Amino acid sequence: MTSLPHDTAAEPDPLRALGLERLRRRTSMKWRTYPEDVLPLWVAEMDVPLAPPVVRAVTDALALGDTGYPAGTAYAEALAAFAARSWRWDGIAADRTAIVPDVMLGAVEMIRLVTGAGDPVIVNPPVYPPFFMFITHMDRRVVEAPLGADLRLDLGALEDAFRRATAGGGRAAYLLCSPHNPTGTVHTAAELTAVAELAERHGVRVVADEIHAPLTAPGTSFVPYLSLPAAARGLSLMSASKGWNLPGLKAALALAGPGAAADLARMPEEVGHGAGHVAVIAHTAALREATGWLDALRTGIQSNRRLLAGLLAEHLPAVRLHPGEATYLAWLDCRALGLGDDPAGVFLDRGRVALSAGLPFGTGGAGHARLNLATSPEILTEAVHRMAAALR
Ligand SMILES: Cc1ncc(COP(=O)(O)O)c(C=O)c1O
Repeated sequence: MTSLPHDTAAEPDPLRALGLERLRRRTSMKWRTYPEDVLPLWVAEMDVPLAPPVVRAVTDALALGDTGYPAGTAYAEALAAFAARSWRWDGIAADRTAIVPDVMLGAVEMIRLVTGAGDPVIVNPPVYPPFFMFITHMDRRVVEAPLGADLRLDLGALEDAFRRATAGGGRAAYLLCSPHNPTGTVHTAAELTAVAELAERHGVRVVADEIHAPLTAPGTSFVPYLSLPAAARGLSLMSASKGWNLPGLKAALALAGPGAAADLARMPEEVGHGAGHVAVIAHTAALREATGWLDALRTGIQSNRRLLAGLLAEHLPAVRLHPGEATYLAWLDCRALGLGDDPAGVFLDRGRVALSAGLPFGTGGAGHARLNLATSPEILTEAVHRMAAALR
């Protein structure tokens, strides 16, 4: 029997606070897409109560009727302080930031700033499926530079993609996912420096989606793309949305390196009106006051990652688990199970567990599934038991 790990953080593990009955009362996508008999471990929502400072800030705003449009630089300043404390990076200048409605819409706006209709955007599959959808929806072309077999950036493939993308002399962007969803890979300073140098050499503009940055495993260091001297012309997106489970409170920050400030300045101010003012208040409170809560969460995620490894070894030993160092997502290589391209479909139909299907993640996604670890150890344990039972 796999034993449940114990909470060791100073604050209680938020992943252990809520039971299934209470979670099923939620009306968000995670809980309302599938029937009640399905355990949902798919979309990137967390089964946690909100951090108390966030609840206080939002409640105070509502009590005050402070529900107008966002203004000011408090979000950027809170992120700058968080970045200095967490990543020892003090390079966030509020005048090189802009509030955007969310990370994906921010990415779209930034790609629009540096490319034109029909231009290529490079991505590293397997990667977060909306990258493909948004790029094609905004009339750009996806160029794939797949991750290597070790699920890290393949600099050779990237250079090849940069070369192909710019062969006609046009503009190109690279949408980098850092840390990487779904693998949880944390790119090193050396890898990111090589990316920045390659991008400069080929005239490709880098837009780094760093939404998962707060969610590294304890002891793992995240390297902000714009912290690298070679990335001065880079653009980045950050948000408290994933780290503190705030996707229902829409807001994010677009950041420009010193050499990209003029690009960001061309973004229409109205883009920022799409963010919710109460959301900005919530994100600011999270970054400023809820770091202890985040640390307890990260410890809980790491503990769940270990629990999952043990459960799979015991009940589904043919499944290979990539040892991610960030995000609360686990990328499962199910090819040895012989379930075809869509193992998640089998786990759903026969096991009543909803994982994310691997195919929409692009090249490298077939035969894989993504599991959301941001739940209680009990639910995670039950999910793996159901997955194993589905194959008997
Ligand atoms: C890599 C990545 N980018 C963006 C998003 C979505 O962020 P937002 O809701 O702020 O657009 C997610 C959500 O899971 C994600 O994993």
